[in-house]
This record gives sequence, structure tokens and C-alpha cells, in this order.
Amino acid sequence: MQKLIVLGAGGHASVVIDAAQAAWPGVEILVFDEAPKTDRILGLPISQGRPDPENFDNATTQAIVAIGNNQVRATLTQWLENAGFKLATVIHPTAWVSPSASIEQGSFVSARAVINARAKIGAACIINTAAVVEHDCMIKKSTHICPSATLAGAVKIGSQTTVGANSTIRELVSIADNITIGAGSVVIRNITEAGTYAGCPVKQL
Ligand SMILES: CC(C)(COP(=O)(O)OP(=O)(O)OC[C@H]1O[C@@H](n2cnc3c(N)ncnc32)[C@H](O)[C@@H]1OP(=O)(O)O)[C@@H](O)C(=O)NCCC(=O)NCCS
Repeated sequence: MQKLIVLGAGGHASVVIDAAQAAWPGVEILVFDEAPKTDRILGLPISQGRPDPENFDNATTQAIVAIGNNQVRATLTQWLENAGFKLATVIHPTAWVSPSASIEQGSFVSARAVINARAKIGAACIINTAAVVEHDCMIKKSTHICPSATLAGAVKIGSQTTVGANSTIRELVSIADNITIGAGSVVIRNITEAGTYAGCPVKQL
């Protein structure tokens, strides 16, 4: 890959751009945003709108959605796929990903994150800075594990769920789709009903 298309030009996009430049020195990064608030991000120009697949060659170009909102990231990742773009997986070089773990396309793994043995990460996920995904965890698509959150062994997380910063999920616990876990929370039982949960142990807000 010589070119990386980044959809989104907010704070999270700047983290993804830094990681991509560290992972692939010399990569040309092209940033697109439908409603940019500035004209540059980290010195790179921002193009308004979406990229035209006619202008790119999949042999040299991949694309990723760098937007923290799970629903928006899911929708735009689907659009990229439907438009024929090849999805990138961006992994910061200081992250540890076990050779037996798997990460589907369109996901981002930030600096110092750890993804241990046999863990499975779905498409368009964010494993954010210093998050720990222990052995045998399974995370479905478009989910965000926020900075320094820890999933103990064999935890299951549904799609479009957010595990807040610095929260802890006990081993073997399952958390369903469309759930938000507040920052600094502790989850010790399965959560099956969509909603927002916080505290230690968590309660539904
Ligand atoms: C849980 C969360 C989504 C709730 O946000 P919200 O709906 O705006 O809720 P509010 O701030 O209005 O708080 C509602 C109640 O929940 C409590 N609460 C909120 N977040 C909490 C948390 N993380 N832990 C414990 N209690 C929390 C508040 O104290 C308040 O309690 P009260 O009604 O008794 O006063 C949010 O606080 C949070 O933790 N988000 C995750 C942030 C994060 O990790 N970001 C990382 C991005 S990379």
C-alpha cells in the first residue's frame, strides 16, 4: 500500500493518521470529511465529501474510517466496501497482537494496546490506546474498546458497543450489542439489554 484514505478529520482521525505514518513510513494519506471544521489535519489537507473510487487503484490504495461514533463508523465502512474500496487495518507499531489473534478489515489498534492469544476482533473496531484484550476474547464489528480498558480472558463483546476508558470486564463475561459502559466501570455479570451502564459493579443508568 502506498496510499491510505482516511474518512474523518476529528481527534480520533489524528490518532489514526499518526499510527498509520508510524506503521507505514512514507505512506501518502488522503483525508476526507463531509463537514470539515478546518482545512488541515496534522498538516495534511482535508477534502470535503467522500472519495471517488474511480480515482483510486486498489493495488496501491486502502481506506479506513477514523470516526469514534460506532454507528457512523459502521455506516461509512459499509459505504467504502460497497463503493469497492479495499479496507485497511491500521495497527500502531507499539501494539502487541498475538500471531494467533485475528483482526478483521477496517479496524484500528492504537499505541500500546495488547491483543492476546486467539482473540478475535471484528471489522471496523477501535482497540484504543493501551487497551488490553486478553486471550480468547471475541469482539463483534464496529465496537470501541476505549483507552486503558481491560477485557479479561474469554470476554465477549457485541457490535456497536463502547467499553469506556479504564473500565474492566471480568473474565468470561458477555456484553451484548449497542451497549455503553461508562469510564472506570467494572462489569462482573453478563449484560444482555441494550443501554448505558456505569459504576463498580455497573448498574444501568
Ligand atoms: C456513562 C456515560 C456514557 C454517561 O454519560 P451521560 O449519559 O451523559 O450521563 P451523565 O454525565 O448525565 O451522568 C448520569 C449519571 O451517571 C453517573 N455517571 C456517569 N458516568 C459515570 C461513570 N463513568 N461511572 C459512574 N457513574 C457515572 C453520573 O454521576 C450521574 O449520576 P447522578 O444522576 O446520580 O448524578 C459517560 O459518563 C461515560 O463514562 N462515557 C465514557 C467516556 C469514555 O470512556 N470516553 C473515552 C473516549 S476515547
